[in-house]
Amino acid sequence: MRRYFRKTSASKPELAALEITSDDRGAPLCAVPNAPLFSISHCAAGGLCAVGLSGRRVGVDWEMVAPRSRELAQLFSCPGELPPDQDDPRSQTRLWAVKEAILKLLGLGLAASPRDIQTHPWLCLTGRARERWLELGSPTLCPAVTQIDDSVVAIVHTQPRS
Ligand SMILES: CC(C)(COP(=O)(O)OP(=O)(O)OC[C@H]1O[C@@H](n2cnc3c(N)ncnc32)[C@H](O)[C@@H]1OP(=O)(O)O)[C@@H](O)C(=O)NCCC(=O)NCCS
Repeated sequence: MRRYFRKTSASKPELAALEITSDDRGAPLCAVPNAPLFSISHCAAGGLCAVGLSGRRVGVDWEMVAPRSRELAQLFSCPGELPPDQDDPRSQTRLWAVKEAILKLLGLGLAASPRDIQTHPWLCLTGRARERWLELGSPTLCPAVTQIDDSVVAIVHTQPRS
């Protein structure tokens, strides 16, 4: 956040002023004037804060690659999203991370079902996630996933406001 203010404005808030609180759904908030929208994730590999430039909304998730049971995978995946070998931990983790990043961008966390986000054959939202997306003005969602050693980072952002 300090780097953001250093790059974008003359104001350079002290670290202590950048207090992070949460809204009633758990989404992070920063009360400093002109603070950007941002998203936080932490896992055993470390912590990550992504900041949305130019009014973009962002959501991030950083997850360790770990096997999940087929039953759990079926709870968060929609038909066709996982390869036939549903037990592949990398595919499961990538899918979970993308869904969680989108749920964070929407400010919902687990207040919506990960199955409200369908990623295959194209990105499509249903249920509570779709309602929230419509409330936000139907922004285009741009997801990216990368692997770092034995962890996966998913970042999703909206298009900048014109
Ligand atoms: C969002 C959530 C799924 C992330 O869980 P996780 O993978 O264990 O943790 P991550 O480190 O990736 O993310 C945690 C961060 O997500 C963010 N976050 C939490 N709820 C969020 C929401 N509704 N919208 C956007 N971001 C949210 C917070 O910044 C949190 O950081 P903090 O723990 O330092 O406050 C989970 O924290 C959540 O849904 N919390 C909301 C409360 C809730 O619904 N509980 C379950 C009831 S069934």
